[in-house]
Amino acid sequence: MTDASAVIRSVNVSTSKSVPSDATAVGYPVGEKGAVPRQLGMSRSALADNGFEGKAGQTLVIPSGAGLLVAIGVGADDEIDANSLRRAAAAFARVASKHSRLATTLADAGGIDPEAAGSAVVEGVLLASYRYVGLKTGDDLGSKLTDLTIVSGGKRSAAVAKGAGVGHAIASAATFARELANTPPTHLNAVDIADQAVALADDAGLTVEVFNKDDLLAMGCGGMIGVNRGSTEPPRMVKLSYSPKGATKHLAMVGKGIMYDSGGISIKGGDAFHQVMKMDMSGAAAVLSAMSALKAVGCTTKVTAWLMCTDNMPSGSALKLGDVLTMRNGKTVEVLNTDAEGRLVLADGLSLAVEEEPDAIVDIATLTGAVLGALGPDIAGLLGTDQPFIDQVKASSDKVDEPVWQLPLEKKRYRKLLDSPYADMKNIGGPFAGTITASIFLSEFTGDVPYAHLDIAGPMKVDGDEGIYSKGATGFGTRLLIDLACNF
Ligand code: BES
Ligand code: MN
Ligand code: ZN
Repeated sequence: MTDASAVIRSVNVSTSKSVPSDATAVGYPVGEKGAVPRQLGMSRSALADNGFEGKAGQTLVIPSGAGLLVAIGVGADDEIDANSLRRAAAAFARVASKHSRLATTLADAGGIDPEAAGSAVVEGVLLASYRYVGLKTGDDLGSKLTDLTIVSGGKRSAAVAKGAGVGHAIASAATFARELANTPPTHLNAVDIADQAVALADDAGLTVEVFNKDDLLAMGCGGMIGVNRGSTEPPRMVKLSYSPKGATKHLAMVGKGIMYDSGGISIKGGDAFHQVMKMDMSGAAAVLSAMSALKAVGCTTKVTAWLMCTDNMPSGSALKLGDVLTMRNGKTVEVLNTDAEGRLVLADGLSLAVEEEPDAIVDIATLTGAVLGALGPDIAGLLGTDQPFIDQVKASSDKVDEPVWQLPLEKKRYRKLLDSPYADMKNIGGPFAGTITASIFLSEFTGDVPYAHLDIAGPMKVDGDEGIYSKGATGFGTRLLIDLACNF
């Protein structure tokens, strides 16, 4: 597998008080009001004659002898925040995508917090520049970007530079998550993702433990063993620990790592479903990628993470409907649909997380098609058992511009939908409220620990290039989890 984060890391990101003379494309912010940067060589009315009014999202490319000049619309002063700068930076990167040496003064627009601004601008440019190259042959491949200079003058420059470094680490993590999810399923199985975790752990200041099938059997992880039964590829559970000195808070993360979800015996009907199910490990990818960045961004929270990785396949040895599994915490589950497999592997991961007595647990999973019906492709479902912790997750979501919307984890009303005559619960809750019944199922494994669940089945991918995203996997949740860990 190509390590996209290494590609992004190899982009030389620097900060300077002036525009480097060798920049081939330079972006200047222009608001709806106020002065137009003189370097653009155009008056406001001349810009307007070309259809550019400085609105957020607009760009105007001005060819010049020295390279490309780009007017980047940033809108009204009171619209400018880190999220709008990230989007503006992405728009700049898209119009300058043929260029290798970019520079921009965007981080000084609006005078917002310089560290947040530096980070957002670097994130926007790098994330919008990412393209999955994978197994294509030929030469017009991938991003052209080699150098990015964030230009910031005066008192802001030191803090902008610090933010730019943080943004570089965050963008590297998010592109790594995209790369993992874009990789074809046979090129990234459970063993491969565990190998990736082991390979990055040392540099990232993480300790790593990998559990194989025998370990999982010995540990009583019935969900992992059950889901893996139909597959010829062995399962892996990866435990990652980040333990900074002096940490007082402990956060646990669990990621769904279904390397390919065929549905199992309850096989998915239709190629369109199957075609995207190599991305059913997007939760595990987000967790692994977030963990990989904690040291670089200076996180002071202790974080322990579990990646629950296996295929879900039909075969002569696969789970049968009516089979009953015993999960790590001892609870029993009647399997009435093998395509509801994410909750089975997460059950073991959540049980193990509870055993470590963390202050809170968050899981992230491409869990239900139902969340697409409820919230559409852009917004993740957020459910949980502890409103203050849910509010923290929502605050991180707002801050990093990875949208989530809370749905009710209505145990009192809907727990009965999971009642089974044969076991403590069944793994499906009927045709309605599928995202909610899935989260109620998960909460059976989180004990008394404050718990939040992110269902990212919608935003795990985009179908075309838009903003910071390029067609394919989005790495959604990586930036949210980094922010959550850092501010926990
Ligand atoms: N991985 C799927 C959910 C999914 C669907 C993710 C579309 C991304 C895009 C999950 O394992 C699944 O199959 N869920 C079932 C649950 C049902 C059987 C209760 C679903 O949503 O149909
Ligand atoms: Mn499934
Ligand atoms: Zn799945």
